[in-house]
Amino acid sequence: MEIQENISLRSFNTFGIDVKAKYLTSVDRVKQLESLKEKFPGERILFLGEGSNVLFLNDFDGIVVRNEIKGIQMVQQTDEYEIWDIAGGEHWHDVVELSVKQNLSGIENLALIPGKAGTAPVQNIGAYGREIKDVLISCEAFDLTNGRYRVFSNEECQFGYRDSLFKRPENKNRYFIYRIRLRLIPNGAPETGYRALQQYFTENHIDKPTIKDVFDAVVDIRRSKLPDPAEIGNAGSFFKNPVVSLKQFEKLTSRHPDMPHYKISENHYKIPAGWLIEQAGWKGYREGDAGVHFKQALVLVNYGNASGEDIYELSEKIIRDINDKFGIRLEREVQVI
Ligand code: FAD
Ligand code: EPU
Repeated sequence: MEIQENISLRSFNTFGIDVKAKYLTSVDRVKQLESLKEKFPGERILFLGEGSNVLFLNDFDGIVVRNEIKGIQMVQQTDEYEIWDIAGGEHWHDVVELSVKQNLSGIENLALIPGKAGTAPVQNIGAYGREIKDVLISCEAFDLTNGRYRVFSNEECQFGYRDSLFKRPENKNRYFIYRIRLRLIPNGAPETGYRALQQYFTENHIDKPTIKDVFDAVVDIRRSKLPDPAEIGNAGSFFKNPVVSLKQFEKLTSRHPDMPHYKISENHYKIPAGWLIEQAGWKGYREGDAGVHFKQALVLVNYGNASGEDIYELSEKIIRDINDKFGIRLEREVQVI
């Protein structure tokens, strides 16, 4: 286990925030997790995948542990399904590509989401009509508080919209997820109901989209509107899409009849935060090197040398303004560290 000291994390977070860690290491074998606490007695620990959902405000006074545990294995095959074990340090998009090459359905809608496979359950990654919870059987984690290994079933992960048990404050940096188990369907029917996908297939005259068609569509759509962190620092959607009650929804639509929305239950509606932020006039806004992306108002960006504080301050202003204008309090999706 190589350990680096007093090292910049700039290239280890997609926002490109230039903070330092007291120590940085990576694990490539599960066993290494067992000796972490002995090696760094009393130090704070931070788990890090590809840093694509974090915003660093300060230097990290402790040990940052990157996940480099690799390996992909099919563990069971029937006519109806295949079960795959994916090590947590695999790059998520590589897993999606592999599944599509094998004509397995289940995660094709989750193409091009940055990050490690082991982090995917943390916020129950989702896009274009699918979430990891739809295919995840279980995940395996090492509990740093007692040195025990634990398997979490899908139910035990307590998945919600961009949420799971692993995101709760008391569990952060407690369970290190080193493997996930997925159930994928050979030649299964892909999920094509998401509006943007339907539009794409209509425009491209694709009547019966295959698994590969869905994958290609998601890749195309994402490339057309989401900024590439290799070109401009960002962490995807900065805020979650808020869920409002029927009463609040009716009040809002009476004032904004064109407001896009998704009904999620009899009494609850999800409103796209990107729309709210654009309506409030923030799209394309820039203050120093911190800004709101010009194509996707839900994505805050670092044009180069913004600090974590600069981005955070901007997010505070947006939260206040959306609250004043719409009576909705936005919540951050990104993990502030
Ligand atoms: P990190 O940012 O490194 O970590 C995220 C959190 O998980 C941190 O709190 C960290 O401490 C914790 N963590 C890291 N590794 C482990 C582990 N092994 N065990 C337990 N906890 C751990 N997300 C979506 O859901 N849908 C999208 O469509 C989407 N699009 C995106 C587009 C862009 C351009 C970007 C930059 C991000 C996008 N995201 C999206 C967010 C992000 O890609 C996901 O949240 C991803 O799962 C984060 O993975 P990571 O390895 O980079 O996690
Ligand atoms: N919109 C605007 N202005 C904007 C951006 C969006 O009006 O600047 C409107 C769009 O016109 C559309 C609606 O908002 O009517 C939804 O937009 P989009 O389909 O782009 O999706 P989103 O709600 O902005 C969510 C997820 C993304 C995920 C996409 C596709 C959240 C917080 N974000 O974005 O996830 O990729 O749907 O499923 O749920 C992420 O979590 O990091 C992320 C990128």
